Amino acid sequence: MDTGTRMAAVADVPTDSSLLVTLRNAAGEEVEFLLVRTGGGDVSAWRNECPHWTDVRLDAGDGATMRNDALVCGTHGATFDCESGYCDFGPPEGATLDAAEVAVADGAVHLVDDGYDFVRVGESDAERDLSTNPGERLGF
Ligand code: FES
Repeated sequence: MDTGTRMAAVADVPTDSSLLVTLRNAAGEEVEFLLVRTGGGDVSAWRNECPHWTDVRLDAGDGATMRNDALVCGTHGATFDCESGYCDFGPPEGATLDAAEVAVADGAVHLVDDGYDFVRVGESDAERDLSTNPGERLGF
């Protein structure tokens, strides 16, 4: 059985926050995902961007906010179920976070998604557009 690429120990994924990883997509672009614990010792991987404003990261590098097993977007308070990625509250209600397929084996989280390659634990090196400050926007 192909166990994919080992990314991190399950123990490195916080139970009350997230672990940021960088993957590379088929176009060669770095894409951030966050690993979160789900029920039964499993782990899910969700793309690190809010569907409301896609330049807003759910994990800014020091772990995402979680409340009642849901990821919380710090900008407008949307909540996303850690297990399904579904947003049940907030401006992007009804949206689902993009997933990368991962599997837990031998106490580690493995990337088993053919659409991505593992790059590193931590943030992407891709340049961010610092000219846009979400806090300065008006309206939702
Ligand atoms: S940017 Fe995340 S809810 Fe608005």
